[in-house]
Amino acid sequence: VTSAKAFGKIIVLGEHAVVYGEPALAGALSAGCVVDVEKSEHGVPHLMLDTQVFKVSDADNGVCKAVRIAQEAAGIAASALDVTIRFDVPVGAGLGSSAAMSVALPRAMFARADKTLDDATLRELSNQIEKVFHGNPSGLDALLAMTGSLGLFTKKGGLTPIAAKQPVRVIIADTGVQRSTQTQVSNVAARRERLGRPVEQTIEAIGQLSRMGAEALQKGDLAKLGELMNTNQGLLSALSVSSAEIEHLVHVARKAGAIGAKLTGAGGGGCIIALAPPGDEEIVASALRKHSKTVLITNLGAP
Ligand code: MEV
Repeated sequence: VTSAKAFGKIIVLGEHAVVYGEPALAGALSAGCVVDVEKSEHGVPHLMLDTQVFKVSDADNGVCKAVRIAQEAAGIAASALDVTIRFDVPVGAGLGSSAAMSVALPRAMFARADKTLDDATLRELSNQIEKVFHGNPSGLDALLAMTGSLGLFTKKGGLTPIAAKQPVRVIIADTGVQRSTQTQVSNVAARRERLGRPVEQTIEAIGQLSRMGAEALQKGDLAKLGELMNTNQGLLSALSVSSAEIEHLVHVARKAGAIGAKLTGAGGGGCIIALAPPGDEEIVASALRKHSKTVLITNLGAP
């Protein structure tokens, strides 16, 4: 068996605005996606995705398409390989599962083919795979999936790593509502098209929050970071990417003492992140567990 992995991610500030060139503050998660590749025992190559099984040749399945892109690039399209994809982050929930897969798949196929995979090629392949699921990816998720770091990301400049003054722990809670990043991103685009300037200004304001957040993180000013997160949640709501389930978890977290709480990722469902006063993470997490099946406490920036 040949295995490869890639990291998931959490966006602390700046999702959606990042698609329009603004910075986002984000870090990798040590959890993510693992891909195993082995010689097929079935004659027909299979793809195992959690408990589901597909034929790799399935033309309509996005994940199968992703597998084929990686295989073709590695020059092993014709060989009979079974592929197993496992996630240890919730899927379709804003934690970068598809980007982690888009990085882990080429890594696994190139390793299987005994070929080296340089960063530029991996970025290109991962972008191609991400586009199967998401019309206009900023590249943020894929870069964090590759590097596992914490920093300020822009579409043009890539990732500028940030050294946080102290390790920062965040609480993640899943609304359990799956949504499509592609739909969320195109809804924002449509609103920007319809309303123009006010939406552009909201996007710019979000970018400003990300820059201020990077500074707060460097200084270790968590109260400020929390306030920025709460403000960002308000602006994301103005972009119409929040939801009743998200708002509910955000308010549960704040009521339990979180100094900041917001959706993370594309919104419309998926996960929220909350920042607790250091040492109080478990208090906020246990309040969230009453309303969410998946609650994790994690360090910002993997591993
Ligand atoms: C999704 O994790 C983040 C978005 O900003 C989309 C993107 O950056 O490609 C919503």
